[in-house]
Amino acid sequence: MPFYMSQGELPAKRHIMFKRQDGQLYREELFSTHGFSGIYSNKYHYNMPCKTLSVEVMPMNYGNAWEDSLLQNYKMDTRKSDRRGNFFSARNKYFFNDDVAVYTASVTEDTHQFYRNSYADEVIFIHEGEGVLASEYGHLEFRKWDYLVIPRGTTYQLKFNNYNDVRMFVVESNSMVEIPRNYRNEYGQLLETAPYCERDIRGPVLQEAIVEQEGYELVIKYGDRHQLTRLQWHPFDLAGWDGYVFPWAFNIDEFAPIVGKIHLPPTIHLLLTARNFVICNFVPRLFDFHPEAIPAPYYHSNIDSEEVLYYVHGEFMSRTGIDAGSVTLHRKGVPHGPQPHKTEDSIGKKETFEYAVMVDTFAPLKLTEHVRQTMDQDYNRSWIE
Ligand SMILES: [Fe+2]
Repeated sequence: MPFYMSQGELPAKRHIMFKRQDGQLYREELFSTHGFSGIYSNKYHYNMPCKTLSVEVMPMNYGNAWEDSLLQNYKMDTRKSDRRGNFFSARNKYFFNDDVAVYTASVTEDTHQFYRNSYADEVIFIHEGEGVLASEYGHLEFRKWDYLVIPRGTTYQLKFNNYNDVRMFVVESNSMVEIPRNYRNEYGQLLETAPYCERDIRGPVLQEAIVEQEGYELVIKYGDRHQLTRLQWHPFDLAGWDGYVFPWAFNIDEFAPIVGKIHLPPTIHLLLTARNFVICNFVPRLFDFHPEAIPAPYYHSNIDSEEVLYYVHGEFMSRTGIDAGSVTLHRKGVPHGPQPHKTEDSIGKKETFEYAVMVDTFAPLKLTEHVRQTMDQDYNRSWIE
């Protein structure tokens, strides 16, 4: 959605005859959002994209709800829930509500299957690993600490260069993931004051169309259910596409943090928005420069948000006992802030090297069994001296 892109061969206008070399028509697919009034792309297939051989139910479970969890602050080591699996089957769901679901995954194996999340956009933060996001739009090479923003309905695969140490943090959004409106001018272009710009955003590069019919397995996720769909033709059979809807990548190191004289609220760390939640990130930055500034955050009660923080790298200034792959959940209506001595320790510090990804939701989150199984039992008491 960031801007217009065009790849491969296209007819002069939309919805007119566009012929292959053998004289047959290419099959145009309009991939549109919000009915026909949102952003869209037009794709030109060698074959009709709806040639489905069979459809069957596919049982998959990413984690059951933990119904009697308490309203308190939580810290988890998500590595404890690691299991074997591919780029979709290895996911462990930690939190969810009607707007969003949050997963972590250690990906250990490749798969021949294609995957499509039909109801939700996905934002995949590649914590460890590198490879290629292959989709009908082409190849998008990714590396460590990239965000991959994948619109719902996209048929894709993640192909990692190796599977020795691959780790992902996944946010699934039931509404469109967008670049914040206040980062853009009235024409949609990113403003001078935004913490990133169009040059930081990478789109896919269309590959040669694969025109083969051997039967292809596509796993479709719709809500919490899955089905296995067998396609007659290989799904990556485009001669060309153009529009605003396509997967894209952004590396966390491209985020240019905003700093201030005194402590600025988490709003300045905003990366992406969606309905009822935001994604922010914390990156290395200079601290506040007032001579009496307190760099550590003040205590706060999130009366309107649940705050999920995924720790990526570095020493975290307001917390002890945090490792890469840890997650904290600071809950709506429960105060939180620096742990004992962390406020005093921060005074006089000039900079921080922390990296973290945050999801703030405006509706309550439900927790899953993975929280119960990987939580630090003492975290809720960690403010007691
Ligand atoms: Fe907070």
